[in-house]
Amino acid sequence: MAILVTGGAGYIGSHTVLHLLDKGEDVVVLDNLSKGHRDALQGAVLYEGDLLDGDFLDKLFTEQNIDSVIHFAADSLVGESVKEPLKYYHNNVIGTHSLLTKMVEHNVLNIVFSSTAATYGEPEQVPIVESLPTAPTNPYGETKLAIEKMLKWSDQAYGLKSVCLRYFNAAGADPKGRIGEDHDPESHLIPIVLQTALGQRDQVQVFGDDYQTEDGSCIRDYVHVMDLADAHFLAVQKLKQDGISNIYNLGIGQGFSVKQVIDVCREVTGHDIPAVIAPRRAGDPAVLIASPEKAKSDLTWEPQFTQLKDIVTHAWSWHSAHPSGYKK
Ligand code: UFG
Repeated sequence: MAILVTGGAGYIGSHTVLHLLDKGEDVVVLDNLSKGHRDALQGAVLYEGDLLDGDFLDKLFTEQNIDSVIHFAADSLVGESVKEPLKYYHNNVIGTHSLLTKMVEHNVLNIVFSSTAATYGEPEQVPIVESLPTAPTNPYGETKLAIEKMLKWSDQAYGLKSVCLRYFNAAGADPKGRIGEDHDPESHLIPIVLQTALGQRDQVQVFGDDYQTEDGSCIRDYVHVMDLADAHFLAVQKLKQDGISNIYNLGIGQGFSVKQVIDVCREVTGHDIPAVIAPRRAGDPAVLIASPEKAKSDLTWEPQFTQLKDIVTHAWSWHSAHPSGYKK
């Protein structure tokens, strides 16, 4: 039996595929390669096509012996989602509707879903536990929350079991240097800081230094992409064993400010990395820190890379060895 990974050529998807292969799992990847990279796939079987194409999904589920799905394929830029909400509802919500419809038709009833801390919006308290209210502040978070609800009702109606994993800030790269992070355009803090260290950007903009935090910049919980990958592996095992739907936060439980992240990048790279204070970015909550306790106890998840320095070191190894990403 194989695990289907949708969006398996993307950043978190490709690290999860690699980890599953390292664990000896059979993996089939579905990706339309609109954002993902063929070179990130390291030997997994690829079905190149779109979630919205029902005939394509029928062919995949008929040809392959799939017993569970890990579903990453989605648009995931908060800023873009505010400008183009209908694109996000189409690709994320309708795309997932198409996938779930075909899963039910083909009797594939286990799914691990890539959700986000953006479902919480501006949290009432930190660290954030899963029982806090959800109140997304952007269409991206709304679409992920809509999918979580679609999954809840699909469990009740069709017995489709789901684990929703709400990630905080995914960062780092494969410690063995096989794959890494390559977005175009890049909007995430750590790769932007490392591109500045490489001289590809003149300076880093710190989006706001007037938040209610110690140094005034936003605080986030950075979690290593390989630790996220392991949580997906554990979630699939747990679903197959227990068949219980659930929701988990995935973060380290510790926050770092934007300024602290830049300092760690300076230390790791040995470069000055010029930074300037810029206006706040719309929709940014001041502080997002996970409580990962539920994932640790239920999934026996134990993150291996809890030091920001290790996360940045792995990211830097990838970026300095692949300054143009996957492009030759
Ligand atoms: N930041 C800067 N300068 C930059 C880029 C980012 O100061 O050039 C700041 C942001 O304002 C934010 C922090 O760095 O305070 C982290 O920003 P990222 O864009 O790296 O990540 P986000 O926290 O905005 O978003 C991430 C994922 C989203 C997900 C969210 C959930 O990218 O998909 O976490 O917490 F929804």
